[in-house]
Amino acid sequence: MDNKKQLQLLTQQIKDCTRCDLYRSASHSVAGEGNPNAKIVFIGEAPGRREDLLGRPFVGHAGKYLDLLLEKTGLSRQDIFITNMVKHRPPENRDPLPNEIAACNVWLEKQLSAISPKIIVTLGKWSLSYYLPTKKISEIHGQPFKQGNVVVMPMYHPAAALRNSNLARELENDFVKNKELLQNPDTATQISSSLERDGQESLF
Ligand code: URA
Repeated sequence: MDNKKQLQLLTQQIKDCTRCDLYRSASHSVAGEGNPNAKIVFIGEAPGRREDLLGRPFVGHAGKYLDLLLEKTGLSRQDIFITNMVKHRPPENRDPLPNEIAACNVWLEKQLSAISPKIIVTLGKWSLSYYLPTKKISEIHGQPFKQGNVVVMPMYHPAAALRNSNLARELENDFVKNKELLQNPDTATQISSSLERDGQESLF
């Protein structure tokens, strides 16, 4: 089965998912969307109100801001795949609970193995802590690290940046700093590394 068909099948399975209780209060599942052959996958936290209404990821204010950042980097939604740690909206936009994230991981893993990206951009602390549970986003944002065959690039969440102009500046800088890598994801894993962090290899 090709990537597109695998992702379509996963989207259907996510629609029917009852692995945690979030489906009970959500209007729509939000599996994720974008290029099935993307070299870069962005992972946010959870669908918000607008995403829940439309069944699409990052279509509210944070999504518009992300579109701008992508555009400045020379990328568009057609170049990437974008999804979230959890695929149904937590009520009142509360943080997803550990058991909800754990229940939903299976979908993320299947999506990643269908797409097989070179770079994973984590947006915010929830997706970062999936890869580096002990690290603070304030300490390692903008610093990509190797994890097996992929490069993980931690970034602040665009919604957090919209609430805090200092974070916005950091987020914009991180896109600028990593522009070359984001434009040439095939080169990501070839870059030699000199530092070790949590058993991971840093690119710097
Ligand atoms: N915030 C997220 O983390 N994901 C979305 O899809 C929208 C807002």
